[in-house]
Amino acid sequence: MIDRRQFLSHSLALAGSAAFSRYALGLPSSFMTGNGDPLPPIDVSGARFPANFLWGSATASYQVEGAWQEDGKGQSIWDTFAHTVGQVKGSDTGDVACDSYHRYKEDIAIMKQLNLKSARFSIAWTRIQPTGTGPVNQKGLDFYSGYVDALLEAGIRPMCTVFHWDLPQALEDQGGWPNRDLYKQFADYAGIVSKALGDRVNTWAIFNEPWVFTYLGYGIGIHAPGKKDPKLFIKAAHTVNLAQGEAFRAMKAASPKAKIGSAFSMSPGAPATDSEADKAAAERFHAMNNDFFLYTAIHGEYPKAFVGDPPYEAMGVQAGDGKIMQAPLDWIGINYYQRTIVSAAPYIPYVQYNGRQGGVGPITYNGWEVWPWGLYDIVTRISKEYNHPIIEITENGCAYADGPLPSDTDKVPDTRRVEFYRGHLAELARAIKDGADVRGYHAWSLLDNYEWAEGYSQRFGLVYVDFREQKRTIKESGYWYGRVAAANHLNV
Ligand code: NOJ
Repeated sequence: MIDRRQFLSHSLALAGSAAFSRYALGLPSSFMTGNGDPLPPIDVSGARFPANFLWGSATASYQVEGAWQEDGKGQSIWDTFAHTVGQVKGSDTGDVACDSYHRYKEDIAIMKQLNLKSARFSIAWTRIQPTGTGPVNQKGLDFYSGYVDALLEAGIRPMCTVFHWDLPQALEDQGGWPNRDLYKQFADYAGIVSKALGDRVNTWAIFNEPWVFTYLGYGIGIHAPGKKDPKLFIKAAHTVNLAQGEAFRAMKAASPKAKIGSAFSMSPGAPATDSEADKAAAERFHAMNNDFFLYTAIHGEYPKAFVGDPPYEAMGVQAGDGKIMQAPLDWIGINYYQRTIVSAAPYIPYVQYNGRQGGVGPITYNGWEVWPWGLYDIVTRISKEYNHPIIEITENGCAYADGPLPSDTDKVPDTRRVEFYRGHLAELARAIKDGADVRGYHAWSLLDNYEWAEGYSQRFGLVYVDFREQKRTIKESGYWYGRVAAANHLNV
């Protein structure tokens, strides 16, 4: 089984061995590997953040809540996928996860203890409308209402994601995201939650990582609902673009003061060689990976992600769709994990490129390259291309397996995670110094949790979770991040 980042290298392997020259990338050589000159130093002590910068953490409903059948909740595609043998490592499911449905007050108390000022969380559509349409399940709304109240009481801003991948199974049974009808159903649901919580929640993300859930879910099938068809992917992507625009309007109508964006998975793409073909491929990668759901919202048309025109017919594009998908997002959310090395690959459907991860930086437990400079690169590029919009880092983080010390079970020394955050935050500060209007940062994640097809094998938390006892232990990185949040600088 490959995970969502490994598929990049997987597809490159199919392409044969495109040579990777660090010089061709325009990057200085070697990072902590000792094979050449050092990369630019990371300036930690000079890193400055604006006053009122929002230090936060992020979670998502299916990954932490559990209670998969409680209080009238319907079944989502992730319930189905996780219960299907062979889809998830170790056959892990989110049935219980971190049990945050019952323990959220404890989780919020930890956020408060760590001086956090923003909590990004998501709503499970199936708790609100168990089959995706029709009457509202009041108990589901009550749960999120209580969650929001508890955050506000703790002095923490709620940042609510409307959709973090757990589509109602009943809607998948009608075709899922490739089914165009879904865009209106989604907008109805988005209107319901923003009306119900809009008196207390001001900051909303419509989607989380639309490229990831459409491509991994419908294109290559490693995420729910497990479909493997490039045509379904591009159809799903188009419906999601329509849904984003329609939801934006429904939410503004329900809650006019709402500040609405989306959280996009983003990665700076560098051409694998100096060839014109690879350089053009890297630009297509940017258009597809970073811009496909953002450019569309801002400009009402597709970016240049394809060789030639977009395959409008295969995507199911109809006259007037540009207007539907257009939405002047109030802010842009960036989820950053790593950079991508891109090469031309004419036989790959539609986009004709391959991407793979870089091979210079150290790697995390799940094999992703640590590349803090990529955060600077993508934030400054988006800032320039969109005329200095409000940006929030909606996710950034790393998986390491560190757990409690046998000799002192209250201690989780995870120094590599501290280094990861230190480097990325210093690079973020540099992007801010160079003009990016970044208002907040959310560590992924508050808690170790259910990492999709990887089950519980990847620990991304600032807080260690013993899933058997449901015991939370703040890791060293959590205490460090808490000090950073209190000080608003990195010299802690
Ligand atoms: C992206 C996703 O939004 C989140 O759900 C996931 O757990 C992290 N990144 C880590 O892969």
